[in-house]
Amino acid sequence: MNYDNTSLKLPIENIEAEDYLPLNGTDYIEFYVGNSKQSAHYFKTAFGFQDYAYAGLETGLKDRTSYVLKQDKIILVLTSSLITENEINDHLVKHGDGVKNMAIWVDDATRSWKETTSRGAESAFEPYKLQDDHGDVILSGIKTYGDTVHIFVERSNYTGTFLPGFIKYSSEYNPNSTGLKFIDHMVGNVGWNEMNTWVNYYKEVMGFAQLVSFDDKDISTEYTALMSKVMTNGNGRIKFPINEPAEGRKKSQIEEYIDFYNGPGVQHLALATDDIIHTVTELRNRGVAFLQVPKSYYDDVMDRVGEIDENISPLRDLGILIDRDEEGYLLQIFTKPLMDRPTVFFEIIQRKGAKSFGKGNFKALFEAIEREQENRGTL
Ligand code: FE2
Repeated sequence: MNYDNTSLKLPIENIEAEDYLPLNGTDYIEFYVGNSKQSAHYFKTAFGFQDYAYAGLETGLKDRTSYVLKQDKIILVLTSSLITENEINDHLVKHGDGVKNMAIWVDDATRSWKETTSRGAESAFEPYKLQDDHGDVILSGIKTYGDTVHIFVERSNYTGTFLPGFIKYSSEYNPNSTGLKFIDHMVGNVGWNEMNTWVNYYKEVMGFAQLVSFDDKDISTEYTALMSKVMTNGNGRIKFPINEPAEGRKKSQIEEYIDFYNGPGVQHLALATDDIIHTVTELRNRGVAFLQVPKSYYDDVMDRVGEIDENISPLRDLGILIDRDEEGYLLQIFTKPLMDRPTVFFEIIQRKGAKSFGKGNFKALFEAIEREQENRGTL
């Protein structure tokens, strides 16, 4: 085949200006937890993650243990401290189990750090190289809201498992995948009047654009409210909605989060599946608890969203929500908090063309959250 075909050559004006922070996608999400061994068992059993890598005493670490789990493109790192005093325990005492690092896969971690810190990001750590027999990885980090960090991971020179220093890990206990594929978006909760500060951070430091914005008229019930803006990078692979509380007659779910997390942090990770009925059936069978909207939600949902490929009855039985935008529809459901504190949870999402975030479901969903808050005495 002859590739020297002038019809394939783009005129120069079609070549876009170079993006100063090209991002390939999410690399991994690291939780600091009280007991990584037991957390790993939970995420394997309940959500179908698989053993992937491990670092701890057996690999020469003295102060921490990390279990790395994988499901399709999603990598979770669960890290606990082995000693009394270190930053993991400080984080744990302050926040409970929660997301510490949102790592992003890049081609050049040094340049990513320089471009972002020169635009005002606070450095979490300078670029450094990790090396073993399988090559090297360069890591750098910048701080975002609360105590949360974005780590840039450059792994093009590495052929080993996860990162240098980790060993490939497997055990005889291997629950099946539940069909979770990749991280669709990662949501941050920030404090009163802080949303625009962080929206500007993603705009100015990371070159993100604002995809959509919701105010308290969109996201309010009789009692509570919040505001949200969704930030995305150039190729759309990374989406970070940012929420802040808004005034209502009772306490916003965002405020409840901030109270228990002791500050801003990651509220939820949305995990994509291409068969939500299968995924949610599996998750329910494995004991995952979901927010429940009233059955009356399904009385008029078809009028709102029109024709969809799925039968309504399994969606109703499983409590899966439906919403439509100009480009298609989406199916979504939210777990109850994954931790003791009412903080981090997962969203399970299947997109059928829709690029939005389920605005039509906000009211039913927030009323469901209020019922949970009521039970916790935090409304
Ligand atoms: Fe979401």
